[in-house]
Amino acid sequence: MQPRAQGKDNTSRLFCRLGDVLRQLDPAKTLVVSDAKIFALYGHYFPGLPYTLIPEGEKAKSLDALPALLDSFIQHRVDRSWTLLALGGGSVSDSAGFAAHIWMRGIGFYAAPTTLLAMCDAALGGKNGLDYGGYKNVIGSFHFPQRLFCDAETLRSLKPEQFASGMAEAIKHGILEGETHFSFLENCAQRFGNESGLDYKSCPIDVLEHLIDLSQQFKLSIVAQDPRESDKRRLLNLGHSFGHALESVSGMPHGYAVALGIALASRYAQAKGRMQETDLQRILKLLSRCGLPVSLEAVDSGGSLRKKAAELLFMDKKRVGGLVHFLLPKGIGEVKIEKIPVEELISFLREEGR
Ligand SMILES: NC(=O)c1ccc[n+]([C@@H]2O[C@H](COP(=O)([O-])OP(=O)(O)OC[C@H]3O[C@@H](n4cnc5c(N)ncnc54)[C@H](O)[C@@H]3O)[C@@H](O)[C@H]2O)c1
Repeated sequence: MQPRAQGKDNTSRLFCRLGDVLRQLDPAKTLVVSDAKIFALYGHYFPGLPYTLIPEGEKAKSLDALPALLDSFIQHRVDRSWTLLALGGGSVSDSAGFAAHIWMRGIGFYAAPTTLLAMCDAALGGKNGLDYGGYKNVIGSFHFPQRLFCDAETLRSLKPEQFASGMAEAIKHGILEGETHFSFLENCAQRFGNESGLDYKSCPIDVLEHLIDLSQQFKLSIVAQDPRESDKRRLLNLGHSFGHALESVSGMPHGYAVALGIALASRYAQAKGRMQETDLQRILKLLSRCGLPVSLEAVDSGGSLRKKAAELLFMDKKRVGGLVHFLLPKGIGEVKIEKIPVEELISFLREEGR
């Protein structure tokens, strides 16, 4: 197992098999935090280690789930010399990262992400979060993982839509970073993709690792420039204005909404003469070849979703007065924040593709 690179936030990243992780840990002072489904699949790689299970998926990120997690710290006598190992997707790392931050004013935190979304995005960058009052991630802190163990083999047990959701984040990073990154993804889609998505069950492990590595390097480089999201890190919200609105009214998976958000933002940019048609087509083709939706028609033939989503654009966190600080993709590797009247985005969303 070779350390690949050092993130500028001092997270050390290792691509390895889960079976190699145990010997990197202090078994007397590491508590594995996971959910029942993931632990049933991969818990056997951590024999003898104390563990605690939290609810699956978004339920892990509720304040109601926190006391049981903190009780398990008392039960295992977790003190400041201990480290939590989050074994799972973004829900596990968000919840365990927050608990690591608040327990005794901060204990060690490692992550072994098991979804593509968590490997490319959620488990790195230090943000964690719990949901409250119906709002996502409104309770949270910054607590960087010291170590990240990525076993891309664990991705083979994901459902296709979960893998595709993670691809939306990887593609977002490719668009933001530029040609080399984006064309690597195009090449993967060409070789291993079909209309239902990337064939991640048979795609070689080194290809998956490279795809994840590119995303991680990119995200960490942005985080290093703006660890607390005051400026540059906002670029990572590409596709979120339209995406969040559609996600809220449809309940579609986050990655699908981000993909649609990116497709819509790109179409908007092209319609305004700000993006070349060739770039638009490359983005749409890559998203679809990774099994992601690119048109509202596919998810909203009656038009009621787009109407409801359009109203929600008023709630965009990036709106200041009548203007949205919108992430406008102008090309591969060229995304700018521009102030766009919210009414203009609303009419675009209402009318798009009709
Ligand atoms: N902190 C951040 O910077 C950040 C960034 C993006 C997303 N997030 C958060 O991440 C969460 C979503 O995370 P996610 O998409 O990784 O999913 P998840 O953690 O919600 O997991 C979804 C389901 O997949 C299962 N699962 C996980 N790994 C598996 C595997 N290898 N094989 C089979 N099943 C597996 C889990 O048991 C769960 O049932 C959201 O709450 C989102 O807000 C956080």
